[in-house]
Amino acid sequence: MTDWVIETRNLKKIYQMGEIEVRALDGIDLKIERGSVVSIMGPSGSGKSTLMNLLGCLDRPSEGEYYLDGIQVAKMKDDELAEVRNRKVGFVFQSFNLLPRQTALSNVELPMRYSGHATRSRKEQAGLALRAVGLGDRMTHKPTELSGGQQQRVAIARALVNDPAIIMADEPTGNLDSKSGREIMELILNLNKTRETTIIIVTHDLLIAEQTQRIISLMDGKVVSEGNPE
Ligand SMILES: Nc1ncnc2c1ncn2[C@@H]1O[C@H](COP(=O)(O)OP(=O)(O)O)[C@@H](O)[C@H]1O
Ligand SMILES: [Mg+2]
Repeated sequence: MTDWVIETRNLKKIYQMGEIEVRALDGIDLKIERGSVVSIMGPSGSGKSTLMNLLGCLDRPSEGEYYLDGIQVAKMKDDELAEVRNRKVGFVFQSFNLLPRQTALSNVELPMRYSGHATRSRKEQAGLALRAVGLGDRMTHKPTELSGGQQQRVAIARALVNDPAIIMADEPTGNLDSKSGREIMELILNLNKTRETTIIIVTHDLLIAEQTQRIISLMDGKVVSEGNPE
């Protein structure tokens, strides 16, 4: 039996803009296997960010069902949704989104503060996550004292630290030079292999998407093609 970490049925997000109905997502049926790495592609306005927000429990659908790690989240209240998000989802953004005045270690500890870990275990786990991304010797550096690639590594460590069911990465290499971008992709694929974390990457870049196991293409809020790049 396949173990689906994500399952959606007829997922819709509809915005009512005065007279006009915008179907940002128009009936998405999606299953993502636990431990896989998939990419989501599609032109601007096709619904990628809306889908990311729903899958990452940042927002709720207008209609349809969404099971994340077996939990039906589509109809949860805000506080319940925030709880599931904190436990089950790690985020990596194009612009890193680190706190500028905090050290790498404090940045990585942050998700554990919300989930109520003791200080000591927080520091230990944050340290382990930073070592896992190759930054064991940069724990007390602040973001401005790190290169772009290193900042994205800190963000990846932060995404990992609560051992989430899924990591959502929105254009994770978009702000990096090509060498750092390749290294970050290598790291992401490596973490997927060694930790079996499910990873979902939104990207415009076919070279990135081709490194994933499956490409999901969106158009006008619908899945138009899915495939294995081989
Ligand atoms: N908050 C919103 N209110 C109204 N329309 C929105 C909102 N967010 C997104 N949309 C519309 O939904 C569609 C999908 O947007 P989005 O998910 O941002 O696409 P993408 O990330 O692929 O560029 C677009 O037509 C966009 O204009
Ligand atoms: Mg977008």
